[in-house]
Amino acid sequence: MFDLNEKPPLVSLAPMAGVTDIPFRRQVKAFGGQYCVSEMVASDQLARARIDMVRRAAGSGVISPLVIQLAGRDPAWMAEGARLAEAAGADVIDINMGCPAKSVTSGLCGSALMREPDHAMTLVEATVNATKLPVTLKMRLGWDDKSLNAPEMAKRAEAAGVRMLTIHGRTRSNFSAASPIGPRSHQWLKPSPSQ
Ligand SMILES: Cc1cc2nc3c(=O)[nH]c(=O)nc-3n(C[C@H](O)[C@H](O)[C@H](O)COP(=O)(O)O)c2cc1C
Repeated sequence: MFDLNEKPPLVSLAPMAGVTDIPFRRQVKAFGGQYCVSEMVASDQLARARIDMVRRAAGSGVISPLVIQLAGRDPAWMAEGARLAEAAGADVIDINMGCPAKSVTSGLCGSALMREPDHAMTLVEATVNATKLPVTLKMRLGWDDKSLNAPEMAKRAEAAGVRMLTIHGRTRSNFSAASPIGPRSHQWLKPSPSQ
């Protein structure tokens, strides 16, 4: 089994819907990229065998380690998505709590989950309990500058069994590259003196 402790990814290709499909990840791996995350896979749609989601979760025997990112809002579907991804050959399951797209946040998924930490943790627990694979989590600094709750969520996620965190150093209100990154992200990313 892929061991995040033994092989911690020093450089990772960020998951990008519409970009990090299998051919793209193969190219990145050919250029030395070691850890490449899939496009976001809607867990309920994967369970319903929607063809584009099945395609996003594929790659066993081609991409190694196979890191499948799941999105969703319902713990039961997240658990089912994790089981299906594991059965499809995944090595790591990543959970999406960072997507800012209106189509996603209007369904209270992606970064919208940072506004509901208690509910978000039920998704983490359901996913962790459904699979023997390492589960990782990607999130933002928070929903907006008034709710920068990534540190609290990180502690809770770690306690719930999450093995690695990725922080997208913007809030949901910052959206993406058009907005400047807030100073807090740099502050949090700086190693503590003991490290
Ligand atoms: C086209 C595109 C698609 C993305 N899709 C995903 C996704 O499926 N899952 C995810 O966690 N992040 C996704 N992201 C966010 C990236 O993984 C990354 O966190 C982000 O691009 C970092 O920096 P930025 O805010 O400057 O764009 C996407 C980003 C882009 C540009």
